[in-house]
This record gives sequence, structure tokens and C-alpha cells, in this order.
Amino acid sequence: MRSNIITAVSVLACRAFALPQPNNDACMRDAQANTVAKNFEALISAYTNATANAVMTADVVDYSDSVISLMDSACPTSAPAGSPLPFVALGTATFDSRSDFEAGQGGQPNITFELLNVWHNCDTVTLRWRSSTPNPGPAAPATQEQVTGIVVLETKFNGWQSAQPFLIQSIFSEFNSGAWLYDLEVLKPSNCSAAAKRDLESSHSGSNARRGRVSAGARR
Ligand SMILES: *[C@@H]1O[C@H](CO)[C@@H](O)[C@H](O)[C@H]1NC(C)=O
Ligand SMILES: *[C@@H]1O[C@H](CO)[C@@H](O)[C@H](O)[C@H]1NC(C)=O
Ligand SMILES: *[C@@H]1O[C@H](CO)[C@@H](O)[C@H](O)[C@H]1NC(C)=O
Repeated sequence: MRSNIITAVSVLACRAFALPQPNNDACMRDAQANTVAKNFEALISAYTNATANAVMTADVVDYSDSVISLMDSACPTSAPAGSPLPFVALGTATFDSRSDFEAGQGGQPNITFELLNVWHNCDTVTLRWRSSTPNPGPAAPATQEQVTGIVVLETKFNGWQSAQPFLIQSIFSEFNSGAWLYDLEVLKPSNCSAAAKRDLESSHSGSNARRGRVSAGARR
């Protein structure tokens, strides 16, 4: 029920909060904001360098401590043994150019990605997303924890005649990397016991607590 409501809302959710600005030709409308959001979706769910080249500026900068935690497998000071990716410190740019993004993201598997909401003003798109199975496998827990995230995309106007009038120029992206690291079996929570489940049940009500019980039950 809850997810049906979210899906229904997401279909209707694109709204322009900015007032029309008649003197600003470069103010994006709902259609361009949706395109920018779908472009971001494609970078996560159907990645190709061609898409990256088409939808982002060459000087794009991506900030995401959540991505850094995934890249570093939550290791605090050095990349995990065998990691193909260099260690990146929290708080620094995750990728500081399009080619850097391509080298990092291009090696990642595509994941399921559901757009939940899109908002925009003249040059910035904000979106919510959810992935029900962020680890496409083969190694993944039998029951994956969903991951939800919020992204703010600042864009650069690229001309109305362009196939992409608004290019992504900066990315501020955070999501539930704890759940994702569980799905990747990097973080293995201990003490997901019957006692802990009862505590969860008595201290919460509603769908979040129910979901917590279901996924806790799927752990060993
Ligand atoms: C991701 O999806 C794109 C588009 O379908 C495909 O070309 C690419 O090979 C996929 N990447 C991986 C790692 O499977
Ligand atoms: C995508 O671009 C990156 C960065 O330029 C490069 O390292 C990588 O080899 C490219 N991948 C493909 C499949 O061309
Ligand atoms: C797990 O539970 C035991 C016994 O209550 C406790 O001593 C331990 O600190 C707990 N471990 C974690 C990671 O919470």
C-alpha cells in the first residue's frame, strides 16, 4: 500500500517551485527536469560512457560520501585489499571530472533504480530514488535491503537547440550506504536475534518496523 502511494505520487510529483521568469530564457521546465532526472537514472541503471558524455559537462564534480563508503568498503584510511579503486577520503570529491566519473562508474554493475520524486527550479533538479535490489549479484543476501537516496543535480544550460539543453555539472548524492554494504555482504550485522526483533517490534509501529522485522528475519 505504502509503495503504491509512493509510486502514484511519483508520477504526479514533478512540480516547478520557481516562478516563471520571462526574462530568463534558460529556465528549465518540467520536461527538461524530467530528462535530467532520467539521465541520472540511466547513469546508474544503464551506464555507458556515451550516456555520460552526452548528459554531463566535462568538468562535472560528484560529491557523495555514500559512494565513497561503498568504494572504500567502509574502510576508514585505506582501500580494502584487492580493490580496483583508489582510496577516497570522506568529504572530498568522489569524482572531480567526467573522465574520473567514467573510470569509476563505468566499472560498476547496473542496478535497479526507481525514480520516486523530481523537483526543480531554473537550473537545479532534486530527486528521490529507490533500489529494491542494489546488488545484482551473483553474491548477495537472499533478501536484500532496499536503498533509498536523494540527489541534487546542478545543471549548465547548453542551448535550447541541443539534444540535452541542461547538462549535469555537479552532483550531490547521498543514500543509505549501510543497507547497500549489507547487500554487498561487506557489513554483516551481528546480534540480529529474536530478542532484538522483539525490541524493534515493541519500540516502533508501522511499515518501517515491519520491514525491519522481515529483513532481520532473513539474516542468519
Ligand atoms: C549497463 O547497461 C548498459 C546499457 O544497457 C550496457 O551497455 C552496459 O554494458 C551495462 N553495464 C554492465 C556492467 O553490465
Ligand atoms: C569509459 O571511459 C573511461 C574514462 O575515459 C575509460 O577509462 C574507459 O575505458 C571507458 N570505457 C569504455 C568501455 O570505453
Ligand atoms: C551483541 O550482543 C552481546 C550480548 O548482548 C553484546 O555483548 C555485544 O556487544 C553485542 N554486539 C554488538 C556488535 O552489538
